[in-house]
This record gives sequence, structure tokens and C-alpha cells, in this order.
Amino acid sequence: MKLVYLAASAAVWSVCAFTKQPEAPKGVKLAAVETVSKSQKAVADSKDDAVKRGEYLVTIMGCADCHAPKKMTPKGPAPDMDRFLSGHNSTQPLGTFDKSILKTGEWVVFNGQSTAFAGPWGMSFAANLTPDETGIGNWSFEQFNTAMRKGKFKGIENSRPLMPPMPWFNYVNMADGDMRAIFAYLKSIKPVSNVVPSYIPPAP
Ligand code: HEC
Repeated sequence: MKLVYLAASAAVWSVCAFTKQPEAPKGVKLAAVETVSKSQKAVADSKDDAVKRGEYLVTIMGCADCHAPKKMTPKGPAPDMDRFLSGHNSTQPLGTFDKSILKTGEWVVFNGQSTAFAGPWGMSFAANLTPDETGIGNWSFEQFNTAMRKGKFKGIENSRPLMPPMPWFNYVNMADGDMRAIFAYLKSIKPVSNVVPSYIPPAP
């Protein structure tokens, strides 16, 4: 009887010794927590990387040349960083010019801010690309992708075509990762409330 008991307790002890390693579960738990926070960090890092890549692309692709109002500096006009990428400033009166020069289709006119453009297509205004609701704040990536690759207003498939001088046809073959990076960057910049005037078709 005593022997059986001893054998049983030895068996129990050896099972415990096998399973109850106090360090192991702790170690496993820690490793799991570490893996979760590492992967969260990886997601955050790759988001940061996308935003940085997007900033780089937006800079070298010159989106601000048209999409940002300008301030005069000793080196010439520079993007107004308070209204960066917020499109044609609708609170500023549009200057006048002799519209007869448009008639022949030989001339294109830019306003001084390089945000409003008149030519044979009519008059167009650079869009607000900031994450405000008057800009691309409510846009999905799919909308952005459609606007950029198919030249569709608001990124809606059956909307009107985007007018010059938006050079969307240059972006048709952009790598998907770059398109997403630009979108991530635009969603990260300061939102500016600015309802850009509607496109005006050419006078008949
Ligand atoms: C040479 C001037 C110019 C450049 C450079 C330019 N855009 Fe545009 N963009 C415009 C104009 C003008 C419009 C408005 C066209 C219209 O209303 O038909 C526009 C429209 C857009 C739209 C559509 C907005 C809407 O509400 O449908 C998006 C998105 C856009 N641009 C993104 C960009 C990005 C991103 C870049 C840089 C990679 C860029 N643009 C470079 C002039 C430009």
C-alpha cells in the first residue's frame, strides 16, 4: 500500500516537475506580450515610414506648386505653410484679366498664387488636399486612387474628368505603395477648412 502511494506521488511529482516549471509560463507570457507590442510597434513604424515616403513624394512631385497658395519670399514665391496643400484660397478675390486672350486657345493663364488656371478647358481651381472635411478628410483610399489614376473628380467613377493642369495621367502607373504613402501623408497634415470654387466650363 505504502509503495503504491509512493509510486503514485512520485508520478504526480514528476508530472508536476514537468509541467510546473515556474519560469516557463512566465517566460512564455512575457514573450507573447513582447511579440504583441513588437508587432504594434512594427505597424506604427511602417505607418511612419509611409508618411515619410509620402512627404518625400509629394515634395519631389511638386503637388504644392499648384495645390498650395504662395507667399512671396526673397527667393520668390514659396508655399504658404499655414495653408499648405489646401488648394485655391476661396476667401481671396479672383483677379481679373482679359478673357479674350483665351478665345484662340493659344494662351493659358495662371493666377499669381498658381492655384487658379484658365485655358481652353475653362477655369479650374487646385483642390484642397488636406484632411479637413472640405478637403480629402472623408475620402477613402479607393477614391484617392481613382482620382489619381483615372482623373475623376472626387474619385467617383462616373463623375466629371479632372481638368488641366492636374497632371493625373502622369500618375497612372504609380506603384501602389507610393500611392498609399502619398495618401497616408496627406491624411497626416494639418486640416485646413477651404471650399474650393467649382470648375467653370469655357464660355460658349
Ligand atoms: C500643375 C498643377 C497641379 C499639380 C502639379 C498637381 N495638381 Fe492636383 N489638381 C490640380 C487642379 C487644377 C485640380 C482641380 C481639377 C478640377 O477641378 O478639374 C487638381 C485636382 C486634384 C485632385 C482631385 C480633387 C477632387 O476634389 O476631385 C487630387 C486628388 C489631386 N489633384 C492630387 C494631386 C497630387 C497628390 C499631386 C502631386 C502628386 C497633384 N495633385 C499635383 C492641379 C495640380
